[in-house]
Amino acid sequence: MGYNTGKLGFRGLSAALSMALAMGAAAEECQEFVDNLLSQMTIDEKIGQLTLPAAGDISTGTSRKTFVDQQVADGKIGGILNIRGAEKIRSIQEVAVEKSRLHIPLLIGMDVIHGYRTGFPIPLAQSCTWDIPAIEEAAAIAAKEASACGISWTFSPMVDISRDPRWGRQAEGAGEDPYLGSEVARAMVRGFQGDLSKDTQVLACLKHFALYGAAEAGRDYNTVDMSRQQMYNVYFPPYKAAVEEGVGSVMSSFNIVDGLHATANPWLLTEVLRNQWSFDGFVVTDYASINEMSTHGLGSDYDNSIAALKAGTDMDMISEGFARNLKKGVENGDIPEALIDSAVSRILTAKYRLGLFQNPYKYNNTEREKTDLYLPEARKAAKDMAAKSFVLLKNENSLLPLKAEGKILLTGPLADSGANLPGTWAGDVLLDQTKSVLESMREYVGNKCEILYAKGSNICDDPHVEWGMTVGGREMRDSRSAQEMLNEALEKAQSADVIVACLGEGGEGSGEGSSRADLTLPDAQQRLLEALVATGKPIVLLNFSGRATVLSHEDEVLPAIMNVWFGGSEAADAITEVVFGDICPSGKLTVSMPRSVGQIPVYYNHLMTGRPKIPYDAPYRPYSSNYLDIPNSPLYPFGYGLSYTNFDYSDFEISDTELKDNGVITASINVKNTGNRDADEIVQLYIRDVIRSIAPPVMELKGFQRLSLKAGESRRVSFDITPEMLKFYNYDLEFVAEPGQFDIMIGGSSDKTLKQSFEYKQ
Ligand code: NOJ
Repeated sequence: MGYNTGKLGFRGLSAALSMALAMGAAAEECQEFVDNLLSQMTIDEKIGQLTLPAAGDISTGTSRKTFVDQQVADGKIGGILNIRGAEKIRSIQEVAVEKSRLHIPLLIGMDVIHGYRTGFPIPLAQSCTWDIPAIEEAAAIAAKEASACGISWTFSPMVDISRDPRWGRQAEGAGEDPYLGSEVARAMVRGFQGDLSKDTQVLACLKHFALYGAAEAGRDYNTVDMSRQQMYNVYFPPYKAAVEEGVGSVMSSFNIVDGLHATANPWLLTEVLRNQWSFDGFVVTDYASINEMSTHGLGSDYDNSIAALKAGTDMDMISEGFARNLKKGVENGDIPEALIDSAVSRILTAKYRLGLFQNPYKYNNTEREKTDLYLPEARKAAKDMAAKSFVLLKNENSLLPLKAEGKILLTGPLADSGANLPGTWAGDVLLDQTKSVLESMREYVGNKCEILYAKGSNICDDPHVEWGMTVGGREMRDSRSAQEMLNEALEKAQSADVIVACLGEGGEGSGEGSSRADLTLPDAQQRLLEALVATGKPIVLLNFSGRATVLSHEDEVLPAIMNVWFGGSEAADAITEVVFGDICPSGKLTVSMPRSVGQIPVYYNHLMTGRPKIPYDAPYRPYSSNYLDIPNSPLYPFGYGLSYTNFDYSDFEISDTELKDNGVITASINVKNTGNRDADEIVQLYIRDVIRSIAPPVMELKGFQRLSLKAGESRRVSFDITPEMLKFYNYDLEFVAEPGQFDIMIGGSSDKTLKQSFEYKQ
């Protein structure tokens, strides 16, 4: 089967390929096709397949250089990122397919992170739903929309574990837990890729491999240093899970791992990824990583390009290091051409899996671009998910839900700012048409009550601070003075019965390159809040954030706080419906919210110290592991989140106190909705290995279930515990379960569980 038998080659062969695909497209047929094509390629064409430049439609990195059509016609490019539109992409695909010698189609990549035209909540918020089917559906909808606009490859899922909210990219992942992170990673891969032969699915890209979320001091792009035990037990599981789920590509991370750049780290990219985990897709660098290796002090452009290929990188995003150096590398005898062949073969295989050789215009259906975007069912899924993602942190005297009566003052820089709501990586969401909370609430209450509005403050006052002041290039700063804005809010507060303050980060205050050292509310908003508190009116804080923030002061002075993250294009209606009680909040934190930045990293699955905090306030220095000024615990722990009802946990039983190899213990518990509203609860299962050969964490999430319970309803919830769930990577990195005592904890939050114990006997 030859592909390039002249200009008509691909059309002529399309029927044969169709048949092959229809018959199941056996791996050997794919291999045969790829080998055949490869055998006809010049070295320049091969290196072209490994080269991924950007188009300038959006900018996601520092380099401004973009590709030119001639490079495509010359077969010097394997794919393009940051280009939008079915028709526009079709015309460049035509150049690749019609004009290049071998007619090889391009991959078209884009960061479709949490929705495309329909904006879903940021990934961190999605994880707070603990709703795996909904997360899968969100990815499938994003794939459907993006693929209707010419995109065949998304740079998602981002599965980096993050224990440090100073890192702005905490927004893009599933939080601090390896088990939940793995479930989310799998769901997203399934959602994006599904059946890749369909034109509604896209290739996924697992990122950032590896450990990017552990950047020192929470500063983006910073270095990482970590033990192998922590890598294997905490940071690797979500990557591994996505590989097991069949993710088609992997992006290397920007950071150093064991002294080497992740992009040129053979242990990471070949030993772990390919040999240990059997990954069979291709590896792409992150944006300009090969260039950046020299800035790290890691050698010349030539050496770094060679080292990256040798380590297992297949495709070079932006740097053009492969384009400049690989041919020379072969000529100099520094790399065998066979190494280039392997990389090319993986990329051609991905194109084959996507069906691009059969139909290179599969993603350029301009009709679908008109009919498949922002559909009512997609918007409903996005709104439902947003509502499920909000985490009610405090609700004294059931201030929430509000009644639509009297006068409500809506205030804060996020109250009437639809463009901010989609948050970082807003995809192709129409920011100017995104409804604001004010618009939504006014629509909802009609003339049942009055919603007063005053912006109250900008995101912050400091003229040197840029973040949060613009969104997608739009200026969000109010030109009035801080005092004028404050006065207006105070005046309106006088006649209000209740105040809803929409405060927090701007939509671009978290995400890539958006680390923060102070995680409290910005200055201007603190002043606004203080002044509002002084009025004595009841205040509900809606905290908009792309990470865990520090709300210690607000927790002291306010009766009600709900974290609403950045909820996507439908966030405003979701907020309204939760605030007015049509929907009961059910989200639970997937990151611990610190009391103070000084506590970071603070996370639930920590190890014990030899000197745990003494449980009383000693008037002398206790020589224990604690702070003198604040408790060790976070303000709001992992797994925490309130509802408008209460759930009672009782009658925790286990089927046996001994677990044998190949055996199962069933742990079951009664969960009762004791309030008078129907609501959802997320029941969490944790296990503690009491004594083992490497220091165990105090608890680890091993299961969860989302339940819907009617008011007054009870349900018996059970989890099966197997020896597989007790396994961990030991000192020698063997994945084992060790005999001994284990505690099982079940509850509605990591800090509120009931406990049982059993013995594991081999
Ligand atoms: C850099 C980011 O780290 C990565 O997540 C993204 O996919 C690429 N830029 C491409 O935009």
